Amino acid sequence: MFVPEASNSAKEVTRSFYYILGIEIVLLILVTAVMVYFVIRYRSRRHPSSENVEGGPVLEIIWTVVPTLLVIIMFIIGWQSFTQIRKVPEGAMVVRVRAQQWSWQFTYENGRQSEVLRVPIGGPVKLIMHSQDVLHCLYVPAFRIKEDCVPGMETYLWFTADRPGSYDIFCTEYCGLGHSGMISKVTAMPAGEFESWYKKGEAGKEAQGLKHLETKGCLGCHSIDGSKKIGPTFKGLYGSKVEVLTNGKEREVVADEEYLRKSILEPAADIAEGYQNIMPKLPLNEDELKAIIGYLKELK
Ligand code: CUA
Repeated sequence: MFVPEASNSAKEVTRSFYYILGIEIVLLILVTAVMVYFVIRYRSRRHPSSENVEGGPVLEIIWTVVPTLLVIIMFIIGWQSFTQIRKVPEGAMVVRVRAQQWSWQFTYENGRQSEVLRVPIGGPVKLIMHSQDVLHCLYVPAFRIKEDCVPGMETYLWFTADRPGSYDIFCTEYCGLGHSGMISKVTAMPAGEFESWYKKGEAGKEAQGLKHLETKGCLGCHSIDGSKKIGPTFKGLYGSKVEVLTNGKEREVVADEEYLRKSILEPAADIAEGYQNIMPKLPLNEDELKAIIGYLKELK
């Protein structure tokens, strides 16, 4: 196998594939061999004038019945894998998939969002998919699953990953200039590892940023609705131009990620014009800081 088999449906699909490939190889060899034999056996030097052959019932029955059986078996195998692929088991973990030009976004039931699809090994996962704009198609070769993402409509897929690893996700529906770059990964990880990753996103990254702002007391001085308090508001701050005093000198800066980070960690470094710096240094760890900045970036 060139592409690893990393899900339950992979085995089903591989089975159908090899059954069909096997039949094709046997038929190819058979037909070619008989053809070559006939070309030699009945060449015109040995048989200058052709003969009229009046049918052969036995042969005709064989070449009707045998292919029919082969095709029926093909259908049964295909049908079995198909129903297996379409029938989602009870209790599957639901992940919502949003396709858009040109990226994938995965949202979990607790609000956790990710650009990479993380799943636990051994547990069924149901993907409920939709598109923001045009037709896309989610394809995971290692899982042998593929389904269109259609604007205005929900489609689904399910799988159980059974091997740890990181596997490709492709978009297989031409969706514009960035189509070939519309790629991501699915990471299958041990259930415990997944659980701790999942828990981190309890209530979602942004909601978590807001939670930190509340619990650390930031909202006592900074509003999130644009109103003026002791400190500048957070609303619309990210990306805006800010007049600040740096070491007593006035300058204009853009409130980018770096600025937000510095203002949180060293409140006295750049003081927004019209305000006094009375902000304490906060004991924040990197995760909390990231969640807060993530929240501020979205607060438009
Ligand atoms: Cu999305 Cu191609």
